[in-house]
Formats: sequence, C-alpha cells, structure tokens
Amino acid sequence: MELSKFDLSGRVAVVTGAASGIGRATAVGLAGLGAAVGCVDLGGSDLEGVAAEIKRSGGKGLAVAVDVTDRTGLDGAVQRIEGDLGPVSAAVNAAGIANAERGEVMPSTQWQKVIDVDLTGVFFSCQAEASSMFRAGGGSIVNIASMSARIANRGLYQAHYNAAKAGVVQLGRSLAWEWADRGIRVNSVSPGYTKTPMTQRPEQANAMEGYAKETPLARNAVPDDIVGPVAFLLSEAASFVTGIDLLVDGGFTIW
Ligand SMILES: NC(=O)c1ccc[n+]([C@@H]2O[C@H](COP(=O)([O-])OP(=O)(O)OC[C@H]3O[C@@H](n4cnc5c(N)ncnc54)[C@H](O)[C@@H]3O)[C@@H](O)[C@H]2O)c1
Repeated sequence: MELSKFDLSGRVAVVTGAASGIGRATAVGLAGLGAAVGCVDLGGSDLEGVAAEIKRSGGKGLAVAVDVTDRTGLDGAVQRIEGDLGPVSAAVNAAGIANAERGEVMPSTQWQKVIDVDLTGVFFSCQAEASSMFRAGGGSIVNIASMSARIANRGLYQAHYNAAKAGVVQLGRSLAWEWADRGIRVNSVSPGYTKTPMTQRPEQANAMEGYAKETPLARNAVPDDIVGPVAFLLSEAASFVTGIDLLVDGGFTIW
C-alpha cells in the first residue's frame, strides 16, 4: 500500500457549504492534501474568505456563489470550476440547514425548505458534479449526511431534518450503483454533534455539553474531525469503497 494513494494532488474538488463549519474545514483540508478546490456556498465574505485562505496557503481555491436548490445555477457553478481549475473528480456536499418544530404543528413551508436544501440540494449537487466527472472519466462524491439519519435526537424536534438525512444516505447507495460503471463512487459521511454555527442555534447550543458527556469519546466533534474520513473516501485509498455511510460520531450511536 502506497502512502500516495491518500494524496489528492492534481484532483479538482467541489465543496458545497464551504463558507462555514464542516464544509469550510473540508475545503481547507482538501487543499492542504493537494486538491484544487471550488468553494460553493450562498455567497458573501465568508465564502470569499475560504478561497482566499486556500490561496494564502499556496493552494488553488475558487469561490462560486450559488444556491444548491438551483439546479441550473449548480450546472453553471460546476462548469465555472471546471473551466478555471479543470475537470472535477472529487465532491463533498456539505451545504445544509437545520431548525426545529414539533411534528404536529410544523408548517409545510418549514418542512419543504429543509427537504429542498438538505436532500434535493444534495441530489442536484450530485447531478451537476457527476456531469463533470463523466467527462473526467470518474470521481468520488461524499455527501454529508448525519447520525440523525439513524437516530432520533433526544429533545430535538426535527423530523424534517432527520428524514432528509436518511434520504441522503439512501440517495448515496442508489447513485453508487447507477454510476459505478462510469467510475464514480458515491458515499456519505455522518457526523455526530459537531461544534459549528449550526449547533449554536438556541434549541441545541445548551445541550452540546450533555451530548459530549453521552459520547464514548467524551466530547463533541470539531469540524476537522470530519475532514480525514471525507478525504479518505475521496482518495484512491478508498478505491473499492462505494455506497457506504461512514459514521463519525465518537461512538455516540453505539449504545
Ligand atoms: N454540526 C453538526 O453537529 C452536524 C452534524 C451532522 C451533520 N451535519 C451536517 O453537516 C453539514 C454542514 O453543517 P455545519 O454544521 O458545518 O453547518 P454550518 O451552518 O456551519 O454550514 C452550513 C453551510 O451551508 C450553507 N448553505 C445553507 N443553505 C445553502 C444553500 N441553499 N445553498 C448553498 N449553501 C447553503 C450555509 O451558508 C453554510 O455556509 C450540513 O449538511 C449538516 O446538516 C452537521
């Protein structure tokens, strides 16, 4: 086994949700492993900032503003990344939102928005990324799901989010076989509770310490904890891995 199989040099990666949290750490981390990174998010100074940070460290980063619910916009974003950095052979779909409401009173608009961003947005991203990967002769996609795909989070009223994340895992398995014959592997990574702006929302912020105590590894994740498993799945070291969901939860779901 050669160490170089973990290397991402020469690869062009798309990272959605790159302006914050797990997506941001992933964009910077993949650039550190040698990939040129197309950083995709809604726009603004945080998005420009991550591309600038990658460039300051000697890497190649490009900021592209697009909403992941915009299928046509995503095609344009991937084409721009392909034009500037080269054909895409790696992608991480981390864009997401979360909020809470009890199931019996959740408005349809609230349900639909979370499904649109967290599930349909991942599907649209995969479609746009795969079109470039077909041209590149293959690639690897990692969708960021959640341990909430498998558990109901005690005290958090988020049926819409949990359903969307379960959908992301099953979407990955489905696309994994559909695209296997064209050299594209599709997997998901499911983080446990991770310290990011998403977990600072009022209904969750105060519970983070308690979640840490319930975790066998006795802490919350930080965004960098998620980057290594993602990078592994993108790399040639994972060349026979497709259709899996890799839990990165410090053991939270083992009991
Ligand atoms: N933080 C956790 O505990 C945790 C746990 C499991 C899974 N996740 C998942 O990890 C991913 C990243 O979450 P995070 O914690 O880093 O959150 P975050 O809020 O820090 O980052 C999410 C990013 O997604 C972007 N985004 C939101 N809607 C978008 C849209 N329509 N188009 C483009 N970009 C959009 C936001 O602008 C933001 O930059 C999400 O999919 C989340 O569900 C997070």
